[in-house]
Amino acid sequence: MDEINENPIQKVTIKISENGPLVVNGNVILIDKSGIETIREGKMALCRCGGSEKKPFCDGTHKRNGFIG
Ligand code: FES
Repeated sequence: MDEINENPIQKVTIKISENGPLVVNGNVILIDKSGIETIREGKMALCRCGGSEKKPFCDGTHKRNGFIG
């Protein structure tokens, strides 16, 4: 986590897309279910519908599975 903390001024935004993913914009550390950390820079979309084949990332399945939220 030290690399992220070197620049604490950067802001991260999380936008909830209507009927779609969480769009995260900024530099963050993504920690998977095994505890492995990955630094992510820029924009990424995280699945909110549960249907993605590429979890935690959105793969567009929400457009086909009727997700509303
Ligand atoms: S939100 Fe896009 S695939 Fe789940």
